[in-house]
Amino acid sequence: MEWVFFLDTINVVAKECWKAMEGKTVFAFHGQMGAGKTTFIHALCDAKGVKDVVGSPTFSLVNEYEYCCEGTRKPLFHLDLYRIKNEEEAIRAGIEDVLYSGNICLAEWPEKAPGIFPGDTMHVFIEITGDGERRIKIGDN
Ligand SMILES: Nc1ncnc2c1ncn2[C@@H]1O[C@H](COP(=O)(O)OP(=O)(O)OP(=O)(O)O)[C@@H](O)[C@H]1O
Ligand SMILES: [Mg+2]
Repeated sequence: MEWVFFLDTINVVAKECWKAMEGKTVFAFHGQMGAGKTTFIHALCDAKGVKDVVGSPTFSLVNEYEYCCEGTRKPLFHLDLYRIKNEEEAIRAGIEDVLYSGNICLAEWPEKAPGIFPGDTMHVFIEITGDGERRIKIGDN
């Protein structure tokens, strides 16, 4: 499935994307620097109704957010593996524990440690298709 969008339609696409990704928990976002991974993840968080940002220093590897699911608060993790060198370093940093926690995980730069991602990870590809225009594709590989 794929969508082409500008910033003014990102929220609509984020909602459709959640529908299409129903039941998945781990998402790996591929795309060059500046493609719009963080921006789209923030739109996904908005669509989930994430309000509180629970301790999220700008450059941390793992940011924990919170959203409400059927009256219960649940954590949602935003990972940015850009500064990780390899799988060993990711494991030492506890990234696997987060990925296998059963909670929603939205991860940037999964190619830094591809081997630690669960087999049922949903892969998301973001491409720059024009000035302010992006294409997002979702699939299992
Ligand atoms: N349609 C769009 N969707 C997403 N971002 C867009 C779009 N149009 C323009 N932009 C801009 O492109 C930039 C994307 O930056 P962002 O930090 O989200 O990229 P990134 O893929 O997370 O990069 P990095 O790999 O450095 O983390 C932002 O400045 C954003 O405003
Ligand atoms: Mg980013």
